[in-house]
Amino acid sequence: MIPRVRKAVFPAAGLGTRFLPATKAQPKEMLPLVDKPLIQYGVEEAIQSGIQNILIVTGRGKSAIEDHFDVSFELEHLLESRGKIEMLQAVRSVSDMIDVAYIRQKEALGLGHAVLRAKDLVGPEPFAVVLSDDVIDARTPCLRQLLDVYQYFGASVVALLEVPEDSVSAYGIVDAEPVDFNGSRENLFRIRNMVEKPARGQAPSRLAIIGRYVLTPEIFPALESVEPGAGGEIQLTDGLKHLLRSRPVYGLRFEGKRYDAGDKLGFLQATVEFALRRPDLGGAFREYLNSLNPPVAQ
Ligand code: G1P
Repeated sequence: MIPRVRKAVFPAAGLGTRFLPATKAQPKEMLPLVDKPLIQYGVEEAIQSGIQNILIVTGRGKSAIEDHFDVSFELEHLLESRGKIEMLQAVRSVSDMIDVAYIRQKEALGLGHAVLRAKDLVGPEPFAVVLSDDVIDARTPCLRQLLDVYQYFGASVVALLEVPEDSVSAYGIVDAEPVDFNGSRENLFRIRNMVEKPARGQAPSRLAIIGRYVLTPEIFPALESVEPGAGGEIQLTDGLKHLLRSRPVYGLRFEGKRYDAGDKLGFLQATVEFALRRPDLGGAFREYLNSLNPPVAQ
């Protein structure tokens, strides 16, 4: 029987240099898209995908993340005494959401290193990894789509997206062959090789790894055996490449729209599109955008 995936690891110890100065004293995971911090979108996606345990790998200066998922008695008391019931529910729904465990990554030595820090809390079972910079809007949560592939093959699966030629060097890029899945050969791939942040012209394809992974526990010894790679960091891509020697790894071109919210432009795009879709804000926001000359929203 294929073991169930119960846990999701959220690496959140990065320095957020792409978003300075906003991230100088504030974790990038706490930047709000409309009114929810980035990491909450990822956590909600994991819960909607059936994950029960959230493990957040944090570092220095990240205590706002812990406070966010904790109970704020003062705030709840204030809202209650003022009869702000809707706000109270919004605040409570965050702390009621899940039981979160935190692991410390003392030095930002790379994504692979962050995942390795979760080894003891994950134990010998499959688990998910969610990078909260990648915000994905999809009918079926992206992680759920990956879990369905995992349930079928019992092997590790990563999310894939075709990116333009001039962006390949920002991603892990795969060399992969299409596989039949759900009556099509369009979306699922068996990965033959992968490379982290290849130079332009050296990428094996334009299929990039996006921040959703379902991994079998063999990834841990694989990560322990890799040397620092791109940027002098222990890369998750290098660990997966090592894993490929003994286990199949699949890649799913997922259904949905991905926003690179770790990038200023991507963050703005996500903010505008999410705000336009909000029942309580969308109408007034669209009206405002249309009042700009020339109008920008239809
Ligand atoms: C990380 C991974 C990379 C992946 C990317 C997706 O890179 O190392 O393989 O393609 O996330 O967002 P980062 O964006 O942290 O540099």
